Amino acid sequence: MDGEKKKVLFICLGNICRSPIAHAIFEHLLREEKQSDKWMVDSAAIADYHIGKQPDDRTLKVLKEKGINFQHAVRQVTKDDFNKFDYIFGMDEQNMRDLTRVSGSSSHKAKLELLGKWDPEKVLIIPDPYYDTKAEFYPVYNQCYRCCKAFLKSFS
Ligand code: 4NP
Repeated sequence: MDGEKKKVLFICLGNICRSPIAHAIFEHLLREEKQSDKWMVDSAAIADYHIGKQPDDRTLKVLKEKGINFQHAVRQVTKDDFNKFDYIFGMDEQNMRDLTRVSGSSSHKAKLELLGKWDPEKVLIIPDPYYDTKAEFYPVYNQCYRCCKAFLKSFS
């Protein structure tokens, strides 16, 4: 039943670079571990800039190179998400401030955390690669991979 699934939501500013990478990796790891039926996974944006769009081409390229096919239409995080999801992960400190603002003052179910808190290599912030002309999507992928793997392992 849906109510028995653990629910995790990955957040970043635009939902076209970092959070779809984490979303795709986590679903990929769940498939590998045959745990897909136990989880509900989603990602969303703080901002409304790209609603309805697919992830950035550079996101899809790095995922494809890693053997992950992924499709996702950008949506914006809502106040309801804070009572629907068990875990909501942001990528940087500004995401966390924005999440606290959107969640409002009332208490909620979701635990809000920086995804980087799960990094065994202790790199806390997953930086925004959007404006970067260099190959910043690869380190972002690696960070997200390490964190998702450690987070999932914590349930085994
Ligand atoms: P993301 O990257 O938050 O990792 O998806 C960004 C995507 C778009 C923009 C900024 C960051 N933007 O300003 O459009």
